[in-house]
Amino acid sequence: MRIFALTGAGVSAESGLGTFRDAGGIWARFDPMKLATPEAFARDPDLVHAFYDARRRNLLAAEPNAAHVALARLEAGLAARGGELFLCTQNIDDLHERAGSTRVAHMHGELLKARCLACGQTSRWREDMGVTASCPSCGETGRLRPHVVWFGEIPLDLDAIFAALAEADLFVAIGTSGSVYPAAGFVAEARALGIRTCEINLEPSDNAALFDERRYGRASEAVPAFVEAVLAAR
Ligand code: OAD
Repeated sequence: MRIFALTGAGVSAESGLGTFRDAGGIWARFDPMKLATPEAFARDPDLVHAFYDARRRNLLAAEPNAAHVALARLEAGLAARGGELFLCTQNIDDLHERAGSTRVAHMHGELLKARCLACGQTSRWREDMGVTASCPSCGETGRLRPHVVWFGEIPLDLDAIFAALAEADLFVAIGTSGSVYPAAGFVAEARALGIRTCEINLEPSDNAALFDERRYGRASEAVPAFVEAVLAAR
């Protein structure tokens, strides 16, 4: 069995990383147009760096939760049965990897990477970035940005992601509100391809009606239960 899993901020919520659109969420407290666009970065790089520096520090203090661990178990369990998990995340954290997932498509980029606007290289990055940091590849100062996808930019790895979706037997969306495209469109694409669809979320998402199966609850409980059911059935 091939499963395509799409994760969103809800999967990391119980690790203490904020979601975006819930009450008190990141975009309820901060204006994305001032912090998460190329224009915002050009206008006020100090402000944008301070926002991502704070999120990076939060991430380094956070731990994966039972939902991340269960998805790593699903990858190993499917592989042992001749199947495959394609894990596609909208999250910029590394909690899937730290829980043991070996292959993760980060369509919105990675907070623990820097991208150099001078040479185009990406580098691992765990410190505050700020406007005075130098690129480890080319040595230019002041040209690094967080390797994250901002509003108005094209998500990463889309060819591989759509190819994997087309091969799947099951599409499962976990902890995502289904409001940001193109990820929000994956469920309709899956349906059009005749692929079974499942939603796991705290509450019905914007796209809930498009899912064949729905499981509601906290990710730390609902995801392990889903993984047990999948692996028991094979
Ligand atoms: P949202 O904040 O839009 O949605 C998070 C979803 O997780 C909501 O539907 C919540 O009900 C659900 N949720 C919250 N806590 C949960 C829990 N403990 N267990 C299960 N579900 C829970 O986040 P995303 O859908 O990930 O993009 O947002 C998509 C994109 O919008 C992000 O990648 C980011 C943002 O703008 C960029 O920055 C480019």
